Amino acid sequence: MAIKYVPEPFRIKSVEPLKMLTREERESKIREARYNLFNLRGEDCYIDLLTDSGTNAMSQEQWAGIMRGDEAYAGASSYFKLIEAAGDIFKYGFFQPVHQGRAGEKVLFPILLGPGKFAISNMFFDTTRAHVELAGARAIDCVIEEAKDPSRRIPFKGNMDIEKLERTITERGPENIGLVVMTVTNNSAGGQPVSMKNIKETAEVCRRYQLPFSIDAARFAENAFFIRRDEPGYSTKSIKEIVGEMFSHADMFTMSAKKDAIVNMGGLIGIKDAENPIVLKVKANCISFEGFTSYGGLAGRDLEALAIGLYEGIDLDQLSYRIGQVEYLAAKLDDAGVAYQSPVGGHGVFVDAAAMFPHIPYNEYPGQVLGVELYKEAGIRTSEIGSYMLGNDPDTKKQLKADFEFSRLAIPRRVYTQAHFDIMAEAIIAVKGRAASIKRGYRVIWEPPILRHFQAHLEPIE
Ligand SMILES: Cc1ncc(COP(=O)(O)O)c(C=O)c1O
Repeated sequence: MAIKYVPEPFRIKSVEPLKMLTREERESKIREARYNLFNLRGEDCYIDLLTDSGTNAMSQEQWAGIMRGDEAYAGASSYFKLIEAAGDIFKYGFFQPVHQGRAGEKVLFPILLGPGKFAISNMFFDTTRAHVELAGARAIDCVIEEAKDPSRRIPFKGNMDIEKLERTITERGPENIGLVVMTVTNNSAGGQPVSMKNIKETAEVCRRYQLPFSIDAARFAENAFFIRRDEPGYSTKSIKEIVGEMFSHADMFTMSAKKDAIVNMGGLIGIKDAENPIVLKVKANCISFEGFTSYGGLAGRDLEALAIGLYEGIDLDQLSYRIGQVEYLAAKLDDAGVAYQSPVGGHGVFVDAAAMFPHIPYNEYPGQVLGVELYKEAGIRTSEIGSYMLGNDPDTKKQLKADFEFSRLAIPRRVYTQAHFDIMAEAIIAVKGRAASIKRGYRVIWEPPILRHFQAHLEPIE
């Protein structure tokens, strides 16, 4: 059923011209990139949906903030502006800026995790999983079973399975659990939101077993939008009030600010209780890895843009427009019978490549097959979220089988227009039309030991 495109709550002041390659040129570019979409040049992508991370368009206020950025090494006014904004929105006692989300993970996780320890999440994102493993611990996902069925349309499909969480804690021993992480929205499950009720129940379990409870807060505002729209009792609350309530249930958070805080670079750690002894350790790790505590790997101008972006990210009109774009694309796919993780989540459409290519097994990476075809078809760059990204078992080194085989179209904020969305839908439908003629997938011919999908080389299986 066609739905109306939510009009942009802004007009365009500065433009970035796009290059149009021919199909033959794109085929040669992807071959040269060893069929790894990360190896393509950005300028060779007509619509770049690799990620919504750091690819957002900043506002005139943020660009003006860039000029106001205070570059003092210690105690810059831009730092205090950020701390004030974060305190106002999240109501925590301590904040540490870092250069991006994974820097926050690198600073925080080794304080709470080590060999023999486990970290539990609704679903770890690839970098959070990697930092759990780099700290010597093991990561366990406890997402609800319904999340694993892309055709199952239920709200809050990103939720933690509370029973499984508690069972995992008792089976592994509470003393061996270093951290519980709630990822909002649940990126790896398709940007699916987590309900306030589920956040609260997870917090209660953590309190019962005295476990630290952290939020992976990359898409905190989109999650709050879904709570406001779909959870009883929240429709008259502001996004800011809902965010305040979400974070009140946790002890700490790590945030990639490159998503909902609408900046091109930045991250944040928050600790609720400024007296918590881990604050000192966070500061010490930050000084070693990121830089002095009042800049944390960022320029003063980045801190300034982030302080402004935190407020723009929780603007209801901005969120309605953004999530409206994703729903517009999803509705077109519904009309064409293309399966995706449904209902559609916050930051993109996760097309079910396993359903489009049922004859291609997980270890030939159907999500990568669709990604390469979309690039050839229309110059659209996506990312694979499936067995290729999941990689090998850290102990047995064998290829793991992911719960999903997705091609993710992640939508940058305030960047693409309705016509771009129409092109995305047309390209996906065209690839679906010729899916049966694509017989085989890809094999990995070179891979690094960790986070292989960023760098690996692939070749088509003939
Ligand atoms: C849920 C989630 N957590 C953490 C990260 C890592 O953030 P960054 O890319 O800023 O290091 C991402 C990035 O995509 C993410 O989606």
